[in-house]
Amino acid sequence: MSVTRRHFLTTAAAASATAFLPVRPAPAADSSPPSPESQAPSSASFSFIHLTDQHITARRHAPEGYAKCIAAINALSPAPDFVLMGGDMVFDGCYTAKDDYTNQIRLFKEITRGLKYPWHPCLGNHDVLGWGPREKVAPTDPVYGKKMIMDALEWHEPYYSFDHKGWHFTVLDSAYPKKGANGAIIQEPRLGPEQLEWLGYDLGAAGDRPKIAVVHVAAFCNVGQISGNPKHLAMDGNMVIWDTHELRTILERHNVKLLLQGHSHRVEDTFWNGTWYVTSPAASGAWWGGNWTGSDPGYTVVRCEGDKVTWSHESYPWEAHLEAKEAVERKRIAEQQAKRAEQKRLLALERAGRKQS
Ligand SMILES: [Fe+2]
Repeated sequence: MSVTRRHFLTTAAAASATAFLPVRPAPAADSSPPSPESQAPSSASFSFIHLTDQHITARRHAPEGYAKCIAAINALSPAPDFVLMGGDMVFDGCYTAKDDYTNQIRLFKEITRGLKYPWHPCLGNHDVLGWGPREKVAPTDPVYGKKMIMDALEWHEPYYSFDHKGWHFTVLDSAYPKKGANGAIIQEPRLGPEQLEWLGYDLGAAGDRPKIAVVHVAAFCNVGQISGNPKHLAMDGNMVIWDTHELRTILERHNVKLLLQGHSHRVEDTFWNGTWYVTSPAASGAWWGGNWTGSDPGYTVVRCEGDKVTWSHESYPWEAHLEAKEAVERKRIAEQQAKRAEQKRLLALERAGRKQS
């Protein structure tokens, strides 16, 4: 099967990114059968890391926190084979000044260089420069949109796939451009028909290989149910990709085992029609402002064995370092801590049993 491949790799040993990552194959023809190699069952065992929502910024001691996160991953035993990013690698380009965003990318690159393992990028909504109502960059800027971060990371295609030890991995791009006013672009959380079509053929070309995909904005995210808020819509416009049904239909058709998700900063595991939808903890917790989303700062270790996949959500030791003016975050952290303390108190009370009157 003829497949166009480009490559990308960043390792601790390499001072800058070099070619490694197999990137987006062109859609295969309808009649192309999977290659014999793609039919081979996988027998290798390995693990990898899903590392998402780092939101790297110079503020809140984020560089120090991210370095700690990377040190925790580097110390894992057994060692993972690679790291799969989940998007929102930098704090924000949608409403942040370009200089600040540029610095965030520089910090992200510098600190990520400390990873002992190869890593694969994934686009999050905040990784884009501009593309929003609060943008601080002109649409005429030559690096407006995805170009700046992709150039900086020597990353050629926003969605792509690669194979590893008999498994097939597909990285999706949920930042979809829509024409706004005065030449500006508005970002919508969806994959779009072109990417969905590519995905079908990409998975088709992978034949019977076990498959895993990653996307930033989730296909399943139950924030309304988690918070118990009846007014929070299941499809609220921001937390779930708008073409979730189309995506899930393709994943089901190709027996994709696992879709790794980010964006909500809340750990969730959902199983539907043969596919697991797993949202990993954010490496930044609540944007380096504590753990008030309900999930401590962390990452997910994914283990592939034969054609089975298992995972565990891990945290690493990190305390928020808030600035004096950040009263809202302080209040949210206090509420979260009070909630956890109350749970502990109730658990002890209920385990002790009812008092006889
Ligand atoms: Fe996000």
